[in-house]
Parts: sequence; C-alpha cells; structure tokens
Amino acid sequence: MILIEGLTKTYGDGPNRVEANRDVSLQINRGEFVVLAGPSGSGKTTLLNLIGGLDTATSGSISVNGIELSSLRANALSDFRRDHIGYVFQKSNLVSSLTVYENAVLQLRLQRRLTRAARDRTRRLLNDVGLGDKLQALPSQLSGGQQQRAAIIRAVTSGTDIVVADEPTASLDSKNADSVLELLRTMNDENGATIIVSSHDARVIAAARRVVHLVDGLVFSDTRASELLENLT
Ligand SMILES: Nc1ncnc2c1ncn2[C@@H]1O[C@H](COP(=O)(O)OP(=O)(O)OP(=O)(O)O)[C@@H](O)[C@H]1O
Ligand SMILES: [Mg+2]
Repeated sequence: MILIEGLTKTYGDGPNRVEANRDVSLQINRGEFVVLAGPSGSGKTTLLNLIGGLDTATSGSISVNGIELSSLRANALSDFRRDHIGYVFQKSNLVSSLTVYENAVLQLRLQRRLTRAARDRTRRLLNDVGLGDKLQALPSQLSGGQQQRAAIIRAVTSGTDIVVADEPTASLDSKNADSVLELLRTMNDENGATIIVSSHDARVIAAARRVVHLVDGLVFSDTRASELLENLT
C-alpha cells in the first residue's frame, strides 16, 4: 500500500520557486489501477517520481509497503527502486547498447533473480506482445510502440509490486497505444500489480478504475470508476 500525507515538492528558490506538488494526500491500495490526470505542469511527473523513489519530497511523508521513503539514504533508495518499482518513462528508457531481451531481463539481473524460469517467462511475455522476432534487436531498430512494450515487460517481469508509467502512450499511434494499455491492464488483472499511470489520453483515463486529477500541484478530484459511471448516467 502507498500512503501519501501532506506531500509537498518545491523546486528552485526565490522568484524561481515552483510548488510542483502541494499538500498531496492519497492512499493507493495494492492492486489498484490509478491514472494521474491533469494539465501540463500540474505535477504528475513530480508525483510519480516521488512515489517511484527517483526524487525526494520537500515535506510530508510517503510510505510504500510500510517503508518511509524520506528516511532512506541514496543507497537504500536505489535498493527500494530495484525491488519494488517498475518504472516506464514517457520515452522508453531502454539501454541502447543492449538487445530487447537483455533489456527485458535487466532488472531481474540486478535483483539476482534471473533464473531459467524467469528467462523463459520473459521470452514468453515478449512473444505475447508481438516482440518474439525482436529479441536480439537493439532498441533503435524498434518502433516507439515496440520500445514501450519492451520497457513495460521489463517493469513487470521483475516482479515488482508497483508499476509506475509516465505518459506511456503519449508518443504512440492509437494501435500501439491500445496494445500498451492492454498490457498494463493484463498486468494489473493477472499479476495483481499496482499500476499508477500519468496521462492526458482519454483512452487511458477511460480504462482506469480510479482517476486522480491534479491541478497546480493539488489533488483536484479523486474519483473511482463506479462513481464515474454514476456521473454519466
Ligand atoms: N527539475 C525541475 N526544476 C524546476 N522546476 C521543475 C522541475 N521539474 C518540474 N518542474 C516544474 O514543476 C511543475 C510540475 O512539473 P511536472 O513535470 O510534474 O508536470 P506534469 O504534470 O508532469 O506536466 P506534463 O503533462 O507537461 O508532463 C512545472 O511547473 C514544472 O515546470
Ligand atoms: Mg509529465
């Protein structure tokens, strides 16, 4: 479970000071599929980076599975990321000198959990998302959608309980966006992974079971799918 209380993140000083997240409080339960929506500059990436342990808050607290992130030093924070967080960036963050397959098993390798079964499962998953003939290709030889799918496979095969994805469909055409979305849904349904996605994309928002809307760094609304449906009818 992710428990966020009074979380504030400020960048810069004096006239350059920006409050990217202001007094954000949220509870995200294991297995939820949450979309962070909101206009450009509203603080979505900032919040994802705090949840994913890529950055530290200015004040407030954020605990993930009982681990208070603000109390962790750099080494412990990087161990936290390796063991708990699968991160998918807006532009896929594959290592350009490694093949698709090597990228997909990278986090497992760092975790020292790259067993034969894990290798087989990764190959099977890559095959399932249409990358079966690209295992030995370099990222530069793939389309944007294919790169994004490989990055998601890496995030999910590592068995981390939380997948954080920052606008994973933003640079994709609708066909690739649909397949990325379907993959995230499958990971949520079948593996029970907690998925937190930032997006402007109406299709991603429609697929979510919960939408947290940020405006100017504040939580403007927090709506579950059941309530979304009620509002429509
Ligand atoms: N490293 C940084 N230094 C200074 N200001 C920053 C930094 N990162 C983000 N900001 C500012 O913090 C605010 C929130 O930025 P953030 O990237 O979280 O927004 P976002 O909702 O992800 O926007 P987008 O939809 O465009 O990706 C913005 O005003 C941005 O300019
Ligand atoms: Mg962003």
